[in-house]
Amino acid sequence: MSDVTPFIEEPRPTRAAAVIPAAGLGLRLGPGAPKALRPLGGTPMLVHAVRAMARARAVALVVVVAPPEQVTLVRSLLDEHPPPPAVDQLVVAGGATRQESVRLGLAALPEDIGVVLVHDAARPLVPVETVDAVASAVRSGAPAVVPALPVTDTVKAIAKPGAPGEPEPVVATPERALLRAVQTPQGFDRATLLAAHDAATSDLATDDAGLVERMGVEVVLVPGHEEAFKVTRPLDLLLAEAVLARRRINDGY
Ligand code: CTP
Ligand code: MG
Repeated sequence: MSDVTPFIEEPRPTRAAAVIPAAGLGLRLGPGAPKALRPLGGTPMLVHAVRAMARARAVALVVVVAPPEQVTLVRSLLDEHPPPPAVDQLVVAGGATRQESVRLGLAALPEDIGVVLVHDAARPLVPVETVDAVASAVRSGAPAVVPALPVTDTVKAIAKPGAPGEPEPVVATPERALLRAVQTPQGFDRATLLAAHDAATSDLATDDAGLVERMGVEVVLVPGHEEAFKVTRPLDLLLAEAVLARRRINDGY
């Protein structure tokens, strides 16, 4: 008699959660509230990002990682702008670095989540098609999926950052056709992402897929979208306002 019981084996959980790191200060945007709370078209950037993720078919839960001092404020903001009824949301306090904030968001995930999408609050205008494409690539079996675009600028490498304003010697010019600029949401099989964060030895990763790569697990790129750009500097905010205004005219967004 065999004790192999394939028909009652637990299915791989496929409910997807979006973890939204939103605890950054937004220093490069200039003085003001934490970036995720700054308005875009009159609504906090974070609310746009949560909506973009909650609209995706796969997403059943949104975990917002808020600035530690603003957890209560973020909870009431999200109550004012509730997600569709099928989507749950949670707010947890973030940490000193993006990586730490993501880790704190992951710690809040319930057991039945099998797929995790990590999405920057600072990319409020990501189209739902991009979110769906990332989620479905993970559901089809890829452990780590990243939306990316070809770079338009030629990129130079330097040995180390110089003092502000000082000339910096160039050490290499990587072939532009082989470079991609990556965006979020980055999608992962839950166990893979948790293992990658557990294995991280420094707190310097600027994206989650980088941690997965370091474990030797394959990361694949799928097409990103121009409108998934990150609001980093003041000019990005102007662009985001323009994109939003165009959407409002075109489709009553
Ligand atoms: N983030 C976070 N916790 C941190 C730092 C960053 O959750 N301690 C989040 C930001 O809120 C943002 C995303 O990570 O949604 C990407 O980070 P970035 O664009 O660098 O945002 P900030 O760190 O807020 O901006 P800056 O670096 O200009 O201060
Ligand atoms: Mg930052």
